[in-house]
Amino acid sequence: MATSTLLALFAAGLALTVVALVVALVLAHKHRPRGHIAGIVAFIAALLPTLVAAELVGARFDFAPEARRIHLALAWATAAFLLAPMASGVQHWRGRVSRGAHKRISQVFLVLVALTVGTGVWMLSTRIERPAAGGGPG
Ligand code: HEM
Repeated sequence: MATSTLLALFAAGLALTVVALVVALVLAHKHRPRGHIAGIVAFIAALLPTLVAAELVGARFDFAPEARRIHLALAWATAAFLLAPMASGVQHWRGRVSRGAHKRISQVFLVLVALTVGTGVWMLSTRIERPAAGGGPG
């Protein structure tokens, strides 16, 4: 696949993921729990192929080492922390955790998402395309 096509697919996947998350948050704020949960399912469904595209993009470029290190650490932390709002959301739905607790946990997750996207943009801004494998002499 051409690098420009891959970058466009990645950007589209990322945009869809962010839109699904924003819609899920707006529906939660309007007290529409079923719509909120459907939005979160759409968010996860869009996130998974976007992560695959991100991996493929990462394999085609070299990045500034600090930008890469900081972004990857945040990306792993955010992925691991996703379990917290999921678990507190399910527990809130079952009446075992307060809305306030689920909201506060979700806010920490949203800060991590913002930092991950921000450092990802920073990392991408430092990209240098790798030469095609097997193209050079010897
Ligand atoms: C990444 C995952 C999630 C995030 C970021 C998230 C975020 C939020 C936020 C911020 C609120 C409060 C909205 C406000 O007061 O303005 C909320 C409410 C709620 N969330 Fe989640 N949530 C997530 C996952 C889930 C899951 C998996 C469930 C249940 C299966 C769930 C169920 C609920 C319910 C029932 C409410 C209350 C809605 C109402 O007031 O009627 N959430 N969520």
